[in-house]
Amino acid sequence: MAVIISIVNQKGGVAKTTTAVNVGAALGNMGKRVLIVDLDPQGNATAGLGISGASKRSLENTTYDVIMGETRPADAVVSTKFKNLWLMPSTQALAEAEIKLLRFENKNMQLKKAILQIKDNYDIIIIDCLPSLGVLALNGLNACDRLIIPMQCEPYSLEGVAELISTVKRVKKSSNRNLQIMGIVFTMVDSKLKVNREVMMSIKSKFPDDIFFNAEIPRNVKITEAPSHGEPIMYYDPASKGADAYARLAKEIARKCKSIEEML
Ligand SMILES: Nc1ncnc2c1ncn2[C@@H]1O[C@H](COP(=O)(O)OP(=O)(O)OP(=O)(O)O)[C@@H](O)[C@H]1O
Ligand SMILES: [Mg+2]
Repeated sequence: MAVIISIVNQKGGVAKTTTAVNVGAALGNMGKRVLIVDLDPQGNATAGLGISGASKRSLENTTYDVIMGETRPADAVVSTKFKNLWLMPSTQALAEAEIKLLRFENKNMQLKKAILQIKDNYDIIIIDCLPSLGVLALNGLNACDRLIIPMQCEPYSLEGVAELISTVKRVKKSSNRNLQIMGIVFTMVDSKLKVNREVMMSIKSKFPDDIFFNAEIPRNVKITEAPSHGEPIMYYDPASKGADAYARLAKEIARKCKSIEEML
């Protein structure tokens, strides 16, 4: 039975998708069977795994159809070119779900209901959430066991985190009792920038130490280039600093998943 992890932060552009795609690929390479669920109408995870243009237009089923209950979840999963890595792709159509779901009685639980049907097929399911705390993101929070919060070391990074944490508490209390934060990961770290280190120290002082992953993801041009080639960094440039950092993060996540599996 899979451990289900949502990558969340309602702040845009903090490397949620980059983390989902690259951790997913690294875990797959380590022998885990991994499904990435693209829960963002932008479809960046879908493109980052090589599905764009004609292959995107030819998709028969996507996360939209699954969340609307219009297709069986297994029928929306496609294989990727990458080892042990599957994808539930997304297109712009998913934006409509944000409105259409409001009519559903269990509007926040649609994804959970779907994922339960395919949970046994994977070791780890990673949900790449959109930058919002609306009904789609709530589906992500309800469908998962753990959260990973990517955070940039910028002066405004903490803005919105209080809101995210209070949403997590509310979801935990009302509909997903076992929800926990697996960890916060610092992304796009530029250790040469003094302000980066200072902001990191200030963020660290506001949380318990063990909430942070040891691996920090450096700002790395190869990570920026990889999505336009439709490849995770470990395939695009396995020798890069970015690939190394994501491999280390994936190892930490695998260790944490092992102890969660024992509890589930
Ligand atoms: N470590 C890194 N080094 C350099 N560029 C990075 C790094 N991580 C992410 N990026 C780039 O930053 C941009 C934002 O990353 P990404 O799309 O993963 O963020 P996101 O949180 O998923 O955004 P959104 O909120 O729009 O979904 C992308 O262009 C990505 O290639
Ligand atoms: Mg994204």
